[in-house]
Amino acid sequence: MRILNASGCLDALVAPDVARQLDAFVTKTVTPLPREGSAPPRIAETAHGMLNAIGLANPGRERFLAEHLPRLGELGIPLWVSVGGFCAADYAETCSSLAGIEAIELNLSCPNVDEAADSAAEIVAACRRATELRLYAKLSAAHPDVAEVARAVAAAGADGLSLINTLRGFALDKQLRPVLARGSGGLSGPALKPIALHAVRVCSEATDLPIVGMGGIQTGRDALEFAACGARDIALGTVLFADPGAPARVRAELTVACVDAGVANTDDARSLAKSPETERKVPA
Ligand SMILES: Cc1cc2nc3c(=O)[nH]c(=O)nc-3n(C[C@H](O)[C@H](O)[C@H](O)COP(=O)(O)O)c2cc1C
Repeated sequence: MRILNASGCLDALVAPDVARQLDAFVTKTVTPLPREGSAPPRIAETAHGMLNAIGLANPGRERFLAEHLPRLGELGIPLWVSVGGFCAADYAETCSSLAGIEAIELNLSCPNVDEAADSAAEIVAACRRATELRLYAKLSAAHPDVAEVARAVAAAGADGLSLINTLRGFALDKQLRPVLARGSGGLSGPALKPIALHAVRVCSEATDLPIVGMGGIQTGRDALEFAACGARDIALGTVLFADPGAPARVRAELTVACVDAGVANTDDARSLAKSPETERKVPA
């Protein structure tokens, strides 16, 4: 199992030592034009997670390619670039301008932008025509049938799935006003874990694509549970804000978690939670 960061949760240029603990670094989502993002406050703590309304703040494709990507390349870590946009052509143009990286993650699921995007499959198909790089489709569990979306992006040429993005949430201050200037935001952290495990499980049954699981992972045991649901790799997001040492810690804890669960390694655990045998053990 490889350990990545979740897009938007680590700036490798600001914290290269944290990034070097990872097996690959995933950038914040890059859009064709620069975006300042939403007005502050953009982050709020909630009981079991965090709300953010960053709104895809990023320097835009041109500056990213000219300034950020070369500096990221110097870190010597395999790179994934997260690509966003508002129509299939936006995504495809960015994909065709990328080279020398390990993979592209298509952010098909940001809850903090209002513009409606083209369908996930349409975007993946356009990107497939634009690049030979590996394409991971990052999906949202907000769709009523995420497995159906997984099948559609697989048919359109995706090489893998990243599951899941944040889910839309809302928090109030003492005077009952919205905490975030934007109103609602994306909920991340431990509250997401059961939802993410479900999404990984049903998508791993729906397709043969490798899955990067994420959503509330804090410990090695959490990571192992994602493997048991079918994830090949995992990504750490919100936990990095509280514990920059999380990648190394989770890696060490994984070994112990495997012993405790009676499995040899994460490959051995993969898909245990989706076997028909397990299904039968679930009380009706
Ligand atoms: C502050 C913040 C910024 C994020 N920015 C992005 C982003 O730019 N692109 C993206 O695909 N996901 C973004 N995400 C979502 C994460 O990559 C991840 O899917 C989500 O937070 C669930 O993982 P976690 O519970 O471990 O944080 C962001 C999440 C947070 C908390």
